[in-house]
Amino acid sequence: MSFPQSRMRRLRRTESLRALMRETAVTPGDLIHPIFLCPGIAVRRPVASMPGVFNLSIDEAVREAEEAARLGLGGLLLFGLPESKDELGSGAYDDEGIVQLGLRALKASPASKKLVLIADVCLCEYTNHGHCGKVIETADGWIVDNDPSLDLLARTAVSQAKAGADVVAPSDMMDGRVAAIRRALDAAGYQQTPILSYASKFASAFYGPFREAADSAPQFGDRKTYQMDGANLREALREISLDLEEGADMILMKPAMPYLDVIRAARELTGVPIGAYQVSGEYSMLQAAFQKGWLDPNRAILESLVSIRRAGADFIVTYFAKEAAKLLG
Ligand code: PBG
Repeated sequence: MSFPQSRMRRLRRTESLRALMRETAVTPGDLIHPIFLCPGIAVRRPVASMPGVFNLSIDEAVREAEEAARLGLGGLLLFGLPESKDELGSGAYDDEGIVQLGLRALKASPASKKLVLIADVCLCEYTNHGHCGKVIETADGWIVDNDPSLDLLARTAVSQAKAGADVVAPSDMMDGRVAAIRRALDAAGYQQTPILSYASKFASAFYGPFREAADSAPQFGDRKTYQMDGANLREALREISLDLEEGADMILMKPAMPYLDVIRAARELTGVPIGAYQVSGEYSMLQAAFQKGWLDPNRAILESLVSIRRAGADFIVTYFAKEAAKLLG
């Protein structure tokens, strides 16, 4: 049937009709709030390129968690800015490291009963060179050496699980790290700790503001030998399949908005839960437009999140989590 029998506008006439017809929903429980833990007490240091995002000392992070729980958010994703950095990123797998101390404090708070505490597993915030694995010199110059990095990443995940992480989320993009982490968790008695693998992570300009927030910019070179080329969809699907074979319980897709087609393809490939990360650059460009008065924040925030859910993500890591929950509530 076509016009005039069919009139698409009939079902758009009132807000209640539109609400009944709505195919995709975002709820606060779908949203994960990223936290950047830093040393000190009562520190709430703004990140210049990410208005509304802060480096938080552990006491402040506990307060933030209480607010997140009140707002009904799904969980927190924890990053750490260590006291000092070294060649091998030892702060990442130190049982007294910033994320481990933060996890213990958060676990002791009643808010943690309502939140999933996810720990990002990576070395780039902890290495003095800012790369996500071990760097070695070869005849052809420096490389990020895959296999020796696996043990460091696995130790990081075990140390985080021991400190109370509900989920570990490797974001380093070394080959074989999911299997190495699974093996190490099981051997240490953490068979019940799930792995959320950043299976499909592209080398993206949109991580720029994060590297200021996490102080994790590479001091030389870039991440293109381990993160994926943005042009490659088939490669992303191979990465996902391999991570699932290695034992990933869930996958995280990143960035989100410039890669919605990849999220959709992942949804069609697998039945495992899929998260998407609306990354720092996606947040900052929207914030910049809000500051200029060029976009309506309330509408643009929710529209961006609905688009990611519609593409097929079950949950979303987003710096708008608190804001969005307030709008939804
Ligand atoms: C660590 C990591 C990064 C992000 C999440 N985990 C930075 C990177 O890969 O350079 C980016 C998140 C964001 O931009 O919000 N490897």
